[in-house]
Order: sequence, then C-alpha cells, then structure tokens
Amino acid sequence: MPIDAAVHDNVVFTANSRSGSITAVDQSGLNVVSEWKVADSLSAVESTGRLLLALDDSAGRLLVLKPDPAARELKLLSQHPLPMSPVDLAVSSDGGMVAVSSLWSASISLLALDSAGIPHLQAEVPLPFSPRRVLFSDCCTVIVADSFGGQLAAVDATSGNILKNFSVHGHNIRGLAVNARTNSLLVSCQTLDSSTFTTYERVFWGVLMQNGLHSIPLQDLFSAAPQASFIKSSAERHEFQQGGNYTVNPDAVASAPAYAQTSGTGRSTYPLGTPSIGSGDPGTIAVTNTDATVLVLSGTGQVAFRTASHLPFERIHAGKRPESICLSADQKLAFVVNRFEDSVTVISLQPDSAAVRTTVALAPIRPLTQEEIGEQAFYDARISLDGWYSCHSCHTDGHTNGMLADTFGDEDRGAPKKVSSLLGVATTGPWAWNGSKKQLEEQVHTSLLISMQSQLSTEQLPIEPIAAWLRTLQPAPGLAAARRQLPDPQTLLQARLVFKNSGCSNCHAGTALTSATVFDVGIHDEQGETEFNPPGLAGVSQRGPWFHDGRASSLEDVLRSGHHDPTSPLNDSQIRLLLMLLETL
Ligand code: HEC
Ligand code: HEC
Repeated sequence: MPIDAAVHDNVVFTANSRSGSITAVDQSGLNVVSEWKVADSLSAVESTGRLLLALDDSAGRLLVLKPDPAARELKLLSQHPLPMSPVDLAVSSDGGMVAVSSLWSASISLLALDSAGIPHLQAEVPLPFSPRRVLFSDCCTVIVADSFGGQLAAVDATSGNILKNFSVHGHNIRGLAVNARTNSLLVSCQTLDSSTFTTYERVFWGVLMQNGLHSIPLQDLFSAAPQASFIKSSAERHEFQQGGNYTVNPDAVASAPAYAQTSGTGRSTYPLGTPSIGSGDPGTIAVTNTDATVLVLSGTGQVAFRTASHLPFERIHAGKRPESICLSADQKLAFVVNRFEDSVTVISLQPDSAAVRTTVALAPIRPLTQEEIGEQAFYDARISLDGWYSCHSCHTDGHTNGMLADTFGDEDRGAPKKVSSLLGVATTGPWAWNGSKKQLEEQVHTSLLISMQSQLSTEQLPIEPIAAWLRTLQPAPGLAAARRQLPDPQTLLQARLVFKNSGCSNCHAGTALTSATVFDVGIHDEQGETEFNPPGLAGVSQRGPWFHDGRASSLEDVLRSGHHDPTSPLNDSQIRLLLMLLETL
C-alpha cells in the first residue's frame, strides 16, 4: 500500500504503509529495482538531496537512509524518536532542516540534520489542531495544516515560534504547495455546507460538498490584512456554479471550466468539480517552475493537470486512490502512487499537455479480504452521486472532520449533527446520536443511501464490507497519552473516583464508556429531539467540538455548562481531575 514517494538520484522511492517497506523504481527503465523492509509500517518518504528520510509511524521514529540502488543497498545511517503517530515530513531546500507532523500528539518536530546525517531536535511545538501536511514555504518557515479541519499555522523553522494561525474555508486539507511563479500557497481541501441537506439536488449541484484548490498570496500570510474566506454560503456557491460554463455529461472526463473566484485580498478558490463530474477527496499537489499544476483527485482515481494557473484543469485517469505525487528532477515526469493498487502511474508532462506514460506495478496483486474491500469502498468517492465525496470526506480516515452535517440520521431536517468519529465504533452501539440504529449495518446502509446519495443498485451496496472494516478501527489515543503526559497513578486514581462519584459512570459505563439507552441531559435539538445516546469516551479528547451539535468548544465547556449535569455542579478541583482523566482515555 504505497502512500508517498520521493525522487532521489533518478530513482523513485515509494513508502509502503502496510508492509513497512521502501520500493525503488528506476526512472529511466521504469521498472522496480529493489524493495527493502525498514519498519512495521511507514507514513512518508522524502529526499534531502543527499539522503533519504522515512517516517516509521508504528514505532514513532525518523529513519535516515543512504540509498545505493545500483548495489541494491539501503543503509540505515541513523534514527530519531518522534512523538506518537508521525504522518508527514518536509525538508528545507538546502536539506539541512526537517519538519515532521505528528497526528495524535498534535505537534510538529523541527530537526537539524548534520553532515553525518544525524538529526538534532531543535523544537517540538504543540499545535491547537491535529496536523498532517507540512511544507517549507521558504528557507525558514514551515506551513503545517490540520488533518481534519481547516486550520493552518506558519511556524519559524529554527525557533519553533508560531508566526501565524490562519484557516481556509474547508476541511480535509490533503495538499500543500508553493507556486514560486505566482508567489502563492496552494491548498487542496473540501468544503462541507452544514446548513444544507444530503438530498439528490443539493449533492448534484455541489451545494453540499465542494472540492477546491485555494490559492493564498504568501505575503498575505505575513501581513496583518484581514483574512477573507472565499465561498461563504451555499447560496453564494450555488449562484457561482450556475454562472459556470459546465457540461452535463456523466461519462466525460472533461476539462473543468476556467473559473476561479478571486477575493479582494488576492486569495482565490478553484472549484475542482462541476455538476455530474465530482472530484471527491483532492489530495497532494505538485507545481512545476513553469507554473503547471498537477493534483491528485484521490476519491475518483484521477489526476488533474493544468499548464498554467489561469487555465482550466484537464483530468487523467490514474489507479485506485492516487494518494501522492512527486516530480522528476527535470520536471518532465510526474509519479503518482496508487494506494489501493500497489502501483505508480507515470505521467509525462509536456509544455501544453500531460498523458499517462505507463503504470509500474510494485507487487503482484493478491485477493482482498472483506475488510480491505470495505476500506476501499469507504475511501471511494465514486460510490456517491457523481463522485462528489467519499465516507472519508466527512469521517476523515474513519475519524471526524469536526463539522456538522444534516444527513437525516435523526430522520428530520434542520437539526444538523456533529459528524461522529468512527474510531472504536464497533463497541459503541446503538448508533446515531439518538441511538436509533441497533445494527452497524443498518447505519451503513442509511449512510450509503442518504448521506452518499449512492446510485448503486441494492446488490452492489458494499454494506457488509464497510461494516467489517469499521469494526477493525481502534479508538484514537487520548491527547495526554499521545503526548506522553500521563498523570501519576495516585492522581489518576483520584480522578477515576470523581468520575464514579459524580455519576458519570451511570451513563458512560463499561470498557467503551457508553450505554445502550438514551438520556435527556438537557441538550435538545432544533427539532425538539430531547434524548441522546451517551457517546463512548475512548479518544474523546481528540474529537472536538463536543455534543451532538458541537456546542461545546472544549472539554471544559462540556463539564462547566449548566447542562449535562445530572446531579450537582462540579467544583473546580473535580473539573480539573475529570479533564485530566478524559485526556488519558
Ligand atoms: C456528509 C457527511 C457524511 C458522510 C459523507 C457520511 N457520513 Fe456518516 N455520519 C455523518 C453524521 C453527521 C453522522 C451523525 C448523524 C446522526 O447521528 O444523526 C454520521 C454517523 C455515522 C455513523 C454512526 C456513528 C455512531 O457512533 O453513532 C456511522 C457508522 C457512519 N456515519 C458511517 C458512514 C459511512 C460508512 C459513510 C459512507 C458510506 C458515511 N458515514 C458517510 C456524516 C456523514
Ligand atoms: C444521565 C446520563 C449521563 C451522565 C450522568 C453523564 N453523561 Fe456525559 N453524556 C451523556 C449524553 C446523553 C451525552 C450526549 C449529549 C448530546 O450530545 O446531546 C453525553 C456527552 C458527554 C461528552 C461529550 C462526548 C462527545 O463526543 O461529544 C463527554 C466528554 C461526557 N459526556 C462526559 C461526561 C462526564 C465526565 C460525566 C460526569 C461528570 C458525564 N458525562 C455524565 C450522558 C451522560
């Protein structure tokens, strides 16, 4: 399962996540040269120019490797421990600085790489969001983006000081790139409108979910100018699309119309999909020094290509879930790794066009298990109406994008609900906020028909495989556990006593810390629904905002608000202990 690639000395090295191996593909012969197992699993690979860096996400370490593909050798020079769940890495242009984002510990590590290839930690910076993509925007500034929501931060690469927090009007940021020609930061992400419903029309017109490429002038980031968001309301977006010159042809892999909305500050958004031609889950971006852009559309198995920033994108078919992209040194070839196909699509880039040169198989394909079929369906935007989005577009990597959506889980309109995290979902039944789904399969069936507006026939709906995959998902580690900031055993014991004595365990019980019934805890929805199923509390610190309508922006709010207080108000010391406990779960 390749998920990242880097070009080093005319060789493409792929990081294969499940096998923990690195495969070398020769750039001229376009054949596999060798494969080395270096870890239990890998999340990223990057070249410093001299050396190869890889992230071992299972053990939480940075691997510094010296490749010699001709001799079929990949030597481990050094390794460095990292906070839990490292997911992405970036290298400064001189190869001397490395930035690594760690998802569940919500932090970024900045390391200096010496001439012997030994990393030295400069700073470990806690972030207000769980990060994924990282990028050096210049010699000394790192841009890091939210893995779930739409937040970003610019961080000074040497001191670790956060220079600026900013955001895009969207979520699921999977691509970051600098366009040196236009001096702008490109961000690929999705935008979900919480105020609309998942009906056929609203999905068809792209009102519910947009996929876009945002462009932000770099100077904007470091000026005090107010930040504009681009397409604010569904009405604006609808109007905007009506004005677009689209063609309605379900079979077409057509070029998108050349419209991009530009705001007063020079920011602009390019909507990647048009009615009938969705573009679910846009991902990694590569920009050439002649202003051409290549971008993967992971959910639809395509790559979007434009020859210049002001021109429309053309689409090219890649493999199953193209996940990442990198360019050859001469920028004539783009290598796209297909996560669910164990292959690399090689695209040749011409000044005015792009076309698939060949596809390199990294390994023989074996039959998939039921869970693997379900995983692929979960990430496949083609099971939704016209390919606008996948399950992952809302339940990011099985977790939550942190937003509200009106998917009729509660059988009514006008009371959007917080997108539930599905990590640990096997043990938290009954499902849906109002506990109306007694079987996980029943919920998945509804999700496919209503949330996705799937046009597949009843027999084709991948209900059992998706449910089987969902049952394999483990809860996220608590923030304190991920940051290795666990309280001492005595304090933890005290906190558990408060949890019990305050009545929390009456409703949040058993190993999953939930119960099978519904309760009225004083939080009612817009349509008069009063009773909700207590969410399981494993991983609860990682999934704000909280409650069915996201009204609590911190766990402290959950405990302090006058609602959700079954017995008597908690005092400050009880709240402190409970917060500590919730962050360990
Ligand atoms: C447009 C956003 C969106 C999409 C797309 C989406 N969901 Fe959901 N999902 C939600 C929301 C919102 C809820 C909570 C609804 C409620 O309980 O009223 C939810 C709830 C669920 C739950 C119940 C979780 C629990 O613990 O109660 C499951 C399971 C689920 N979704 C699976 C899926 C699957 C599988 C897909 C793809 C086939 C999918 N969802 C697509 C938004 C979405
Ligand atoms: C009477 C049952 C009941 C008791 C007692 C109770 N809870 Fe809850 N809890 C719920 C319900 C129901 C919800 C969901 C409410 C909603 O979103 O509408 C909830 C939600 C939460 C959430 C937010 C979860 C999320 O994912 O949004 C947290 C955290 C939480 N409870 C912690 C606690 C703690 C700590 C205590 C003890 C001080 C406690 N609860 C006592 C029923 C209860």
